[in-house]
Amino acid sequence: MSQSSYSPHPERYQHSVGYRFCGKSGLKLPQISLGLWHNFGDVDNTAEAEKMIQFAFDNGITHFDLANNYGTPAGSAETNFGKILKKNFASHRDEMVISTKAGHEMWPGPYGDGGSRKYLISSLHQSLKRMNLDYVDIFYSHRYDPNTPLEETMGALSDMVKQGKALYIGLSKYPEDKAREAFRILREKGTPCLIYQDRYNIFSRNIENSHFPLLKEHGIGFIAFSPLAQGILTEKYLHGIPEHSRAALSYGFLQKSQITPEVLAKVEELNRMAQRRGQTMAQMALAWCLRTPDVNSVIIGASSVNQIQENIDALKNISFTDDELWRIGELGA
Ligand SMILES: NC(=O)c1ccc[n+]([C@@H]2O[C@H](COP(=O)([O-])OP(=O)(O)OC[C@H]3O[C@@H](n4cnc5c(N)ncnc54)[C@H](OP(=O)(O)O)[C@@H]3O)[C@@H](O)[C@H]2O)c1
Repeated sequence: MSQSSYSPHPERYQHSVGYRFCGKSGLKLPQISLGLWHNFGDVDNTAEAEKMIQFAFDNGITHFDLANNYGTPAGSAETNFGKILKKNFASHRDEMVISTKAGHEMWPGPYGDGGSRKYLISSLHQSLKRMNLDYVDIFYSHRYDPNTPLEETMGALSDMVKQGKALYIGLSKYPEDKAREAFRILREKGTPCLIYQDRYNIFSRNIENSHFPLLKEHGIGFIAFSPLAQGILTEKYLHGIPEHSRAALSYGFLQKSQITPEVLAKVEELNRMAQRRGQTMAQMALAWCLRTPDVNSVIIGASSVNQIQENIDALKNISFTDDELWRIGELGA
């Protein structure tokens, strides 16, 4: 990539998405973060990918969420993000919170999956190389691994922080009891967990009763992934499956079978409610996640700058009437 003519918008923090503290820590996260799971790989539109990162940053979106396996082929999202950073943001690294993860299958053989010290530490080294970074801000254990002792996984995460290769530790997709145990171990090692990441949206809210109270008790932040249910909670699938949408892609993680007539009937009704509120379906879905202080940030995915703009505008109204909340609860169940 050649040098960019882009320079960040000088008023990006005056007109920004706004920030919330991450749990009881001193780290603020933008209310909307950008995830690079889809649409930033080698198979995707790299020019649009670069514009999306620029547009996000120009609007105060300072947090970019990655993982070792993001992109098609796996790893390409980190490589492309590294190139975009070098070209556009060389002197803005300290204005960004960059996260990555390991825990899902990444390379063949016994050491490229799970929660072992061997896998997590070598994966972090690979991620740093791909992104051309000295350290990441947050390193996550991407999922709970029942075959590795928690002491080993947490020990590896703790050492990353002590070695300065990660500033903070995050956990993702841990059962409540394992999360509780992991938080205790990390605290004892002097490297407390900063943040917990899990799926949270109108159709998926089972962690509300289990994890939210636990996180509050420990002062740990929460960041929601797939707040739009991978695009189902938008208008895009109401009239069929558009070409190039995630559900249409052979390498996308959204299955056509998830878009059933029953689901669409619920989205139709939610969409009518959104219209009465003067919002799009996507905006109402994001506003709903951010209605509660239990959620510090939502990580959106996007395939265009226009989607990011639409999603940022969700912040204009994040309050709901009791009637709306009740009906959303009925439809989401
Ligand atoms: N920790 C974990 O295990 C885990 C798991 C999943 C995700 N994540 C993180 O969370 C991030 C977000 O997940 P996600 O991509 O599933 O989030 P999402 O926000 O639920 O879905 C994003 C997709 O919704 C569609 N979309 C977004 N805005 C739209 C709009 N205004 N109008 C119409 N469609 C819109 C786009 O689909 P099209 O591409 O079809 O246009 C976009 O790719 C990931 O990138 C990743 O960083 C973490």
